[in-house]
Amino acid sequence: MAYIVVATRNAHKVDEYRKLLAGQNVELKSLLDYPGFPGVEETGKSFRENASIKALAACRYCDVPAFADDSGLEVEALDGRPGIYSARYAATDPERIAKLLEELKGESNRRARFVCAIAIAINGEVIESFEGEVRGVITEAPRGEGGFGYDPVFQPDNYDQTFGEMDPELKNRISHRAAAFKLALNFVEEEMSVLNDDFDI
Ligand code: IMP
Repeated sequence: MAYIVVATRNAHKVDEYRKLLAGQNVELKSLLDYPGFPGVEETGKSFRENASIKALAACRYCDVPAFADDSGLEVEALDGRPGIYSARYAATDPERIAKLLEELKGESNRRARFVCAIAIAINGEVIESFEGEVRGVITEAPRGEGGFGYDPVFQPDNYDQTFGEMDPELKNRISHRAAAFKLALNFVEEEMSVLNDDFDI
């Protein structure tokens, strides 16, 4: 069985990726399996740059193929903020949501999109990166207890539930992360024979 490491300690993300990888001949590990990983500063100016920084650091440390994502919420009326600063916008999920709703108070343009970039690193080099998105609106108030982050205030186009209310299976099919992951998996399947037993650890 071949291994690939996803460069995150976020158990929610690991879970989403494990489901996305179900049926593939590859075992997913994460930085939760490498507690000594020293961490890396996300100094990039874009989702792709940050994903690349994280994938490269994990690939070099773990010495196996690695991928990383960087994701966030871009709100049209806020000129794309919080964007790459989505995690750092406030201290906790409820505070991030409260701040966002406050900034959008009285704003009629509620358009927003979640973006996810995924970078793949092999043999100490980033070989490719991909970007996926899901478009929708920011609701007037949080709805639903599921998911994480901004899920309770994000309602994707063509659905009447927020990501927080939605069945996680459905969110996993239509999310920005799923879209980016699909592109990455196509690339690996079509262009590379990297996920083979040579990379067993
Ligand atoms: P990072 O990709 O872990 O650097 O952080 C992205 C941040 O964007 C998260 O901490 C969340 O606040 C937000 N975010 C990214 N993806 C999602 C999602 O699927 N649902 C809700 N919030 C998300």
